[in-house]
Amino acid sequence: MLAWYDAHARDLPWRAAPGTNAPDPYRVWLSEIMLQQTTVAAVRPKFAAFVARWPSVEALAAAPEADLMAAWAGLGYYARARNLHACARTVAERGGFPDTEEGLRALPGVGAYTAAAIAAIAFGARAVVVDANVARVVARVFAISRPLPGAMPDLRDATDRITPDTRSGDFAQAMMDLGSSVCTPRAPHCLACPLAEDCAAYRSGDPEGFPIKLAK
Ligand code: ADE
Repeated sequence: MLAWYDAHARDLPWRAAPGTNAPDPYRVWLSEIMLQQTTVAAVRPKFAAFVARWPSVEALAAAPEADLMAAWAGLGYYARARNLHACARTVAERGGFPDTEEGLRALPGVGAYTAAAIAAIAFGARAVVVDANVARVVARVFAISRPLPGAMPDLRDATDRITPDTRSGDFAQAMMDLGSSVCTPRAPHCLACPLAEDCAAYRSGDPEGFPIKLAK
């Protein structure tokens, strides 16, 4: 996965180039909050506008709330914008982002997934990052037979087993990219997939049948 990532990583403005220093925690946090319920395509221009206007967490913390809410327009879910401001203030007051999953989890608007993502991507911590794309990839590789969301603990355990001790942030983002570009919900591109040889769903002949969906 890491070799695939080095060759195929999406060029996203909140990422550091593969192999270079860890990206700025502020940019990682901001992007993860924006990406919680919004697509990468919609986040790109908003992210650029935010970091141009507020280049640091201190700058964002000092912004009038009304400016931040107006700049957030279009991203939806305004509770996220309010939490964003509260979180920026907390972080500015404490003099920087916490560097552990547990410390990050305590911040406003930062849930288990987001804490794991920031710890891995910005701080190089070995964290287990499972978003919807990762869940689909892992459900297929291991042909997990329980339907979502009940399978989440199984998916977390399986992701834990394959997460490397180093570059776990790159690994997480590799899994996200693979899920969005190769291991797609419908018509996955298994011939282009670095995991196909190891993928139980591929071997079963019905990769699209995973994750198992509950009959509606
Ligand atoms: N979705 C959530 N976080 C992401 C990231 N860091 N890269 C790509 N897609 C994402």
